[in-house]
Amino acid sequence: TGCFTYDPGFTSTANCSSGITFIDGDKGELLYRGYSIDELAENSNFLAICYLLLHGELPTNEEFKTFRNTISRHTMVHEQMTKFFTGFRRDGHPMAIMVGVVGALSAFYHDSTDINDPEQRQTASYRMIAKMPTIAAMAYKYSIGQPFIYPRNDLDYTSNFLQMCFSVPCEPYIVNPVVARALDRIFILHADHEQNASTSTVRLAGSSGANPFACIAAGIACLWGPAHGGANEAALNMLEEIGTVDRIPEYIEKAKDKSSGFRLMGFGHRVYKNYDPRAKVMQKTCHEVLDALDKRNEPLLKVAMELERIALEDEYFVQKKLYPNIDFYSGITLRAIGFPVSMFTVLFAVARTVGWIAQWKEMIEDPEQKIGRPRQLYIGPPRRPFPKA
Ligand code: CMC
Repeated sequence: TGCFTYDPGFTSTANCSSGITFIDGDKGELLYRGYSIDELAENSNFLAICYLLLHGELPTNEEFKTFRNTISRHTMVHEQMTKFFTGFRRDGHPMAIMVGVVGALSAFYHDSTDINDPEQRQTASYRMIAKMPTIAAMAYKYSIGQPFIYPRNDLDYTSNFLQMCFSVPCEPYIVNPVVARALDRIFILHADHEQNASTSTVRLAGSSGANPFACIAAGIACLWGPAHGGANEAALNMLEEIGTVDRIPEYIEKAKDKSSGFRLMGFGHRVYKNYDPRAKVMQKTCHEVLDALDKRNEPLLKVAMELERIALEDEYFVQKKLYPNIDFYSGITLRAIGFPVSMFTVLFAVARTVGWIAQWKEMIEDPEQKIGRPRQLYIGPPRRPFPKA
């Protein structure tokens, strides 16, 4: 009963209005606040893009300096939080740890959980952007049994993250500028993507009035799935499983066979039906990193390029408009930088945090905002009498 549309997967339902990100799937266009992703990736940096997504405009030099200083003030996490990490099994997946630790932030930062106070909302946003790299690096360090490394506010956002992941107290650490720039670009590419599954999760969680830290934890949990943020991990595992170029046709056939349950990971997108503009920048970045690190002959790159070439000529993929997405080349790049596969989705979460928080803030400030409450098509039994003994 009632009048509503049945729309599994929300393929044709808009749940909100938003001024943050625009995607034209047919043209393969992605804009943050009106600026195209390739121009931003080429000319800007991740922290400036955080400002853009949150505040609507690119920062002036002065605004950037102030923003950077404010974010720097929040990069450390409460010392007691280290105990959270040590409570997890060392072999636990870092995404499981991220969900737990980020969810726990609201127990430490009570003074920024009042969603009706604009100043507290702003503080929570800055805290999330500042602390995510620290928490992600701690999850990594814990998994390999190395000491946690404190943030260094003299470094830029991404270089600081790299040093928290890869430096050790007993040796000096020099950030490779090509690697830092590449990772910064990867963060830019992942910063927001309008109403994807994890962002919708954050909005839905936030629509009940839940605090922002809890909402971001919900987003992280959703991102973990292999059809979403987990795809970069799945894509690299797939390339490794294929291993050599001669085995590609076998996997192409398997992906075309519905009964196999196998899909080409890093291929296809709900919205992009022409190409994923992020994938282009990602592929270029991948080549830059492999060149800079002298890993040009990385065998998986050969497999990826050949797989892309064959798939793009194959009737099945052409007809269904399946193109490489951002995750196809990101795994190879991240692995070359030195991250283990289990950290790939964590890095996605670090970058997407600003998108989640900007969308959450936009929703809270929207006078038309209502609690998210989808309807259903009931297919269970009709009313029936309770059986008598
Ligand atoms: N390999 C083989 N066939 C595919 C693939 C693929 N990667 N993706 C879609 N198809 C087929 C699918 O079987 C279906 O065929 P049919 O119409 O005959 O039933 C058709 O293409 C449409 O697929 P769909 O699942 O209905 O499309 P969707 O919009 O619901 O799903 C997707 C989009 C990204 C979940 C899907 O393409 C997929 O599973 N890709 C692999 C996982 C992946 O790379 N995900 C990362 C997405 S980008 C980053 C992010 O959002 O986090």
